[in-house]
Amino acid sequence: MGEDLDRITKENKIVVRDLIKIYNQGPQEVIALRGIDFEVKEGEFVSLMGASGSGKSTLLKILGTLDRPTGGLVVFDGQNISQLKDDQAVEFRRRKIGFVWQTENLVEGLTALENVLLPMRIAGKSKDTASKRAKMLLDTMGLKARADHRPSQLSGGQIQRVAVCVALANEPDVILGDEICGELDTETSERVMDYVRTANTDLQTTVVNVTHNPRVAKYADRVLHIRDGLIEGQKHTLYGDITEVDAKGRLVVPEEVKKLAGIEKRVVLKVTDEGLLVKPLDENKQNDK
Ligand SMILES: Nc1ncnc2c1ncn2[C@@H]1O[C@H](COP(=O)(O)OP(=O)(O)O)[C@@H](O)[C@H]1O
Ligand SMILES: [Mg+2]
Repeated sequence: MGEDLDRITKENKIVVRDLIKIYNQGPQEVIALRGIDFEVKEGEFVSLMGASGSGKSTLLKILGTLDRPTGGLVVFDGQNISQLKDDQAVEFRRRKIGFVWQTENLVEGLTALENVLLPMRIAGKSKDTASKRAKMLLDTMGLKARADHRPSQLSGGQIQRVAVCVALANEPDVILGDEICGELDTETSERVMDYVRTANTDLQTTVVNVTHNPRVAKYADRVLHIRDGLIEGQKHTLYGDITEVDAKGRLVVPEEVKKLAGIEKRVVLKVTDEGLLVKPLDENKQNDK
């Protein structure tokens, strides 16, 4: 690749390289991510936008160590987190990540304040410290008057703002949001995103937010478009065709690739710094060593 990965990881909070995810459940494989590359700077707010099925949730789960990629790297603060063991992943998430989902972020029987207190109490923060921070967060998100309300007494937008407070409770470095405005109307979505923006700027929390809605996406410093498991605008022809290696080490080369590469019956294999080079063996020219 020839890039200076050390330097790039020093300059960024998150660096994603060649990320591939293949789901094997069911009779057929699904290639959800085909070689994703991007970086997120400390304090940045990035939107990942794409149609349903494009791989957004898959990518977000891997960023948050809720799932492991089939190939590639996620470097977070200089540490490769793509293949953490389960207990390491739990610890990593607890210290670094706040998640907000589309729905079901809150505990029904608890008030907004109690919901925000919960993760801090679990993490062992004192009642006093936790209570101060919870109130500050609810205040920042415009929910001061709603602290004692239960989820059933709150609107959809208010619930999602409480969810952002819950995610921020233990001072995560990064908030990962997956369609957090998915169930909200446009006006409410914009209000929620205004507050997410405030959390990003006032509390210096890095945000990666997944959405299919351009009006939600535009709140970010930068929008990355994801289509069919690839970031748009990135050339990844090399990784476009993931193929199988069978038990005997045979590589299945799809017809299209064969044609493009001029491959007929035999190929030459060469191990290079970049990986395995597969070249057609031109049987007419015997000078290929
Ligand atoms: N657990 C899974 N098992 C098999 N296929 C999956 C699984 N999760 C997602 N997929 C498939 O991976 C692709 C990307 O899904 P997803 O990341 O959920 O997309 P998005 O969030 O952009 O809608 C889809 O084709 C989806 O059906
Ligand atoms: Mg999704």
